[in-house]
Amino acid sequence: MWFLGMDVGTSGTRAVLVDEQGQIVSSASEEHAAFRTPHPGWAEQDPEDWWRAALIAIRGAIAAAPAPHQPIAGVGLTGQMHGAVLLDKNGTVLRPSLIWCDTRTQPQCDWLHDQIGYERLIELTCNPALPNFTLTKLLWVKEHEPEIFARTAHILCPKDYVRFRLTGAYAIDVQEASGTLLLDVTNRRWSAEVAAASGIPLSWLPEVYESPEVCATISAEAAGLTGLSAGTPVVAGAGDQGAGAVGMGILQPGSVSATIGTSGVVFAATAAPIKDPKGRLHTFCHAVPGRWHVMGVTQSAGLSFRWLKETFFAGENYDALTAAARRIAPGSEGLEWAPYLLGERTPHLDPIVRAAFTGISTTHTAAHFVRAVLEGVAYSLEDTFSLFAELGIPVSGIRLGGGGARGPLWRQIQAAVYGHVVEILTAEEGGAFGAALMAGVGAGAWSDLDSACAAGITVAETVPADPAWVSAYDSGYAQWRKLYPALATLR
Ligand code: XUL
Repeated sequence: MWFLGMDVGTSGTRAVLVDEQGQIVSSASEEHAAFRTPHPGWAEQDPEDWWRAALIAIRGAIAAAPAPHQPIAGVGLTGQMHGAVLLDKNGTVLRPSLIWCDTRTQPQCDWLHDQIGYERLIELTCNPALPNFTLTKLLWVKEHEPEIFARTAHILCPKDYVRFRLTGAYAIDVQEASGTLLLDVTNRRWSAEVAAASGIPLSWLPEVYESPEVCATISAEAAGLTGLSAGTPVVAGAGDQGAGAVGMGILQPGSVSATIGTSGVVFAATAAPIKDPKGRLHTFCHAVPGRWHVMGVTQSAGLSFRWLKETFFAGENYDALTAAARRIAPGSEGLEWAPYLLGERTPHLDPIVRAAFTGISTTHTAAHFVRAVLEGVAYSLEDTFSLFAELGIPVSGIRLGGGGARGPLWRQIQAAVYGHVVEILTAEEGGAFGAALMAGVGAGAWSDLDSACAAGITVAETVPADPAWVSAYDSGYAQWRKLYPALATLR
């Protein structure tokens, strides 16, 4: 048996086939059209384009699989979270989707906090209103496009729209639903109170399932278009952060991932919904039934290094830059980087603050700037670990992921800044792989996600925290924490 996992991302859709040993058989991707920004802060995509890309990716993964082909026994979906797809009673899309990085909805966030109360909203949904979250996007449409709001009959998130086209079912998983701000995250069901207070009929909301649960089957029409068999079970899946965590084996309470892509995410599995009364962390249902997760997001993590390279070191490669930075002592001789190129989410929830290098002196060379950027990003992820400590969230093991886990220097800096040995996986296949493991559980190949991950995920290397670096970074971090309050005054 094989299982298909599909990731409806922002820039493209990726499909992977995975076998019963949890190994990748084949994969294929198709790019999406870039999101549109008709006004500053807006970000819109056409759901039809995701469907087009999904068909190409599925057919591509099947075509790339080596013979003899095995039956595809289950399908799992993941994707960019939070986007709002509005459909009429016939399932026709009413307008382009406002996607996760659309930040036009701060007025709707303020309205929700006034209407429901900041603390009460956190009590009900475990999170405060952020412009990323789906409900704020629905409220924007209600206010600015009442004729579209009046015709709305169904609401879906991006990957759930692709599921609708594959199966005809209106369904969502608990992890994705947590990012809508309409879920009672503690009880893993829609919050009637939040829906009523914001004027969203409960009948618009899709049925909620646990991630590995089968919620629909491939329709005859979609079978003809994809090459999948009609009747193939489709599991609920999870948003990209939930499925990515499953793909890295971050399932047991205490296990944590620190992933540096464009943004940086520190994600911890928890046994209970642990809320931050100040709303600085996201608290969501995990893709693992009966577990939750918290996560903190640094907006410009890998982006900081890419920006530095493209702006000042065009034509050089990352390995040469980090080789030079390795010769600089920890702490970069007082040069510091505050990575707020795009403002910050965790812990500051401040979209306006901007980045800075501080402490520059005549001793500093180009290599100091590179090292300071790697250190500044690690410090900013350490901010989330500090919140974990403040809220009593246990950290027993840390796995590194994303591009930031590829270079040995950034791995060592992270281990020392977090003060913890870190693990690197043999292969990191991302959210589509996690979604395929969920499909395998739904199809009965594994009894649960823990055994699916035990089959498919292996640790390649452990990186210890060098004691001399740990002490340098302890004092470096204490110093670095003074940057944000100072930068926040520069408005
Ligand atoms: C999660 C988040 C991103 C998006 C896009 O809160 O905003 O992970 O899902 O990838």
